[in-house]
Amino acid sequence: MRITPVHPMFGAEISGIDVAAPLDAVTLEALRGALDGYGVVVIPDQERLDDDAQIAFCQNFGTLQTSITLHRKDAPRRMTRDELTELSNIDGAGQRIASDDTKRKLQLPGRLWHSDNSFRSPPGLFTFLHARVVPPKGGDTEFADMRAAYDELDEATRDRLCGLQVIHSLARSRELVGAPPLSPEERVNLPDTIQPLVRGHPASGRKSLYLSSHARDVVGMDEREGRALLAELTDHATQARFVYSHKWSAGDMVIWDNRCTMHRATPFPEDRYRRDMRRTSVADTEAAVAA
Ligand code: OGA
Ligand code: MN
Repeated sequence: MRITPVHPMFGAEISGIDVAAPLDAVTLEALRGALDGYGVVVIPDQERLDDDAQIAFCQNFGTLQTSITLHRKDAPRRMTRDELTELSNIDGAGQRIASDDTKRKLQLPGRLWHSDNSFRSPPGLFTFLHARVVPPKGGDTEFADMRAAYDELDEATRDRLCGLQVIHSLARSRELVGAPPLSPEERVNLPDTIQPLVRGHPASGRKSLYLSSHARDVVGMDEREGRALLAELTDHATQARFVYSHKWSAGDMVIWDNRCTMHRATPFPEDRYRRDMRRTSVADTEAAVAA
């Protein structure tokens, strides 16, 4: 197993590993160590990985979350296992779907900087995204290093942020991109959550800004002031020097730590090309306990 950094601040590529095969304890520990240190890990050439093998691999890192797409009856799922979320512009018959299709519109919040499942309790810890089909151009995924962004805040700002709590809601990111509002089932199953604005990252001993497009209001702060603060911090944290942009090849498995990174999808010519990605994630049960 070889680990090569992909960015001066975070992110690494790992080669010499087959995640479709059962992994021994030493390999798993090395992988976990790379994730804790780098926040984003790219593992190319995993064409052998199918849905079941992805779930089995993911189980090495914690308790899997079920897909929130289970709460939308108006957007048929292609996946047979509840733990899998598909990010694609393909229907059950393998045909491209229109960009105004409900299923596609529900994926639009992914174009805003976010941390996965920050609106759920427990929130997302690691996300595993496997590329099955990628377009020849566009569709890169950008990642931002929220530990580096925290480190570069001045001391007065850090003091001001310490102890602040933020309300996260799926309705917020949907509203920002004009995606369909919450379904009755989503309203029942995905109530708003409260998350700290600054989080510790136990494995690295560093602190991180915990931001997301799902973040709506700062608890105890005037609405305008709270939203301005979240916007200002997001602008800071997503400056080019904190960003790694991943250009996908089919077979890539990318894993990221949602406690200390944000990410966003970028556009591609959807009317011409297919993009088909499979996502699994594990829950941050420690955060739930802390809350
Ligand atoms: C995700 C996500 C971005 C992309 O899987 O959580 O935001 O580029 N994906 O598909
Ligand atoms: Mn995401």
